[in-house]
Amino acid sequence: MPADTLTLIDNRTAKTYELPIKDGTIKATDLRQVKVDANDFGMMTYDPAYMNTAACKSRITFIDGDKGILNYRGYPIEQLDEGSYIESAYLLLYGELPNASQLAHFNGELLERVELPAFFDRFFDGFEQHAHTMSMWMAGLAALSAAYPESRKVLDATVRKEFILRAIAQVLTLAAYAYRRGQGLPLIRPKAGLGLVDNFVHMLFEKEPHPVLVRALDVLFILHADHEQNCSTSTMRLVGSSQADPFTSLSAAAGALFGPLHGGANEAVLKMLRQIGSVEHIPEFITRVKAGEVRLMGFGHRVYKNYDPRARIVKQTAESVFAVTGKNPLLDVAVELERIALSDEYFIKRKLYPNVDFYSGLIYEAMGFPADMFTVLFGVARTSGWLAQWEELLGDEDQKIGRPRQIFLGEGKRDYVTLENRK
Ligand code: CMC
Repeated sequence: MPADTLTLIDNRTAKTYELPIKDGTIKATDLRQVKVDANDFGMMTYDPAYMNTAACKSRITFIDGDKGILNYRGYPIEQLDEGSYIESAYLLLYGELPNASQLAHFNGELLERVELPAFFDRFFDGFEQHAHTMSMWMAGLAALSAAYPESRKVLDATVRKEFILRAIAQVLTLAAYAYRRGQGLPLIRPKAGLGLVDNFVHMLFEKEPHPVLVRALDVLFILHADHEQNCSTSTMRLVGSSQADPFTSLSAAAGALFGPLHGGANEAVLKMLRQIGSVEHIPEFITRVKAGEVRLMGFGHRVYKNYDPRARIVKQTAESVFAVTGKNPLLDVAVELERIALSDEYFIKRKLYPNVDFYSGLIYEAMGFPADMFTVLFGVARTSGWLAQWEELLGDEDQKIGRPRQIFLGEGKRDYVTLENRK
């Protein structure tokens, strides 16, 4: 039986090292013993963009990018979408699906906390109407840290639980307020007796929501709830590792999500489809993509190299929504764009497939959301995943404050020159 070790030969010194392998990995710090002499700092790995570095152990979400698998706590996303977002949030946080009474209790706990402190009316009034909804939402998350100073006791499990519940509920109210402010509309308070997602729709649109649309929103929230160590979740963990309060960490994670390569892609897809305008302009657009002038937004993924299982569910959801709202006129452009891209050598060679963001914007638009609200909707759902990962981080004995290394390539030591003596 071969040993679970990796034998390393340093050809600079002809020394051999035996590194233990656990869970298919070696410890990066084990490489530090690899030195040319006693003064050498020791070997490091260079991994910009964390292409091959596991920064944590996790039991929450599993992705097999080659097979197109996404599981929350072992349950495939294609099965979880039969349930509700609240159920998935519970699963992510507590590790098991809730039974009926646990679900009702959790729902009640969230609804009790959905109201924002009174100063948020004035807070949202302070923004110009054209402010991006995501910027307002992010600022609102940071402002919750000011509202709840006791949330800074992050080493207290009871305090953490309280603010996890508050955050999951209140991100919806923040999102609705940011949306209403952006539209120049008066804010609407949460209404007693409604479910969490129904309440959200009420605070947004002040009307009885169509059940098919509420269901579609619920499904989209399930699909976006977690995605293991992506850019925003890693930000949540990194900021959380300094023991910052959860709202500060959430605000930072939301900042990472905002970028067009991550959660901002759904808004970018819609802008792209509008720019293309009609099916006959697609070949010209594809030529520009292949020339490296623009990216086909909503395509490609760091992890999925087969297909994004969320994209398939989003496409099905789009059909149910369009049956109620009427077809989004940009759908034809999206479908044809997908068809052409999937048969083109450029995309096939690079394993570029539609991701979750390719069709979600079309659904959100059909539901009546402005494009600058799309990433907020992603963030609202991802809040449960961010917090589950944050909770896991704080209970993990292996974790410490995050602190990557660098390869320093700058100037060596040189003496300061006073201003009058500088050329
Ligand atoms: N359009 C055109 N070419 C692309 C695209 C795209 N969307 N994505 C990747 N490529 C090309 C890229 O130019 C490179 O080509 P080459 O080898 O010739 O240089 C090759 O594919 C590999 O790309 P990469 O940038 O090294 O891949 P990555 O893993 O660093 O990037 C990505 C992943 C998602 C940032 C990228 O695919 C992308 O920018 N996609 C568009 C933005 C998008 O839809 N983002 C949402 C991701 S899903 C939601 C989420 O979880 O955030």
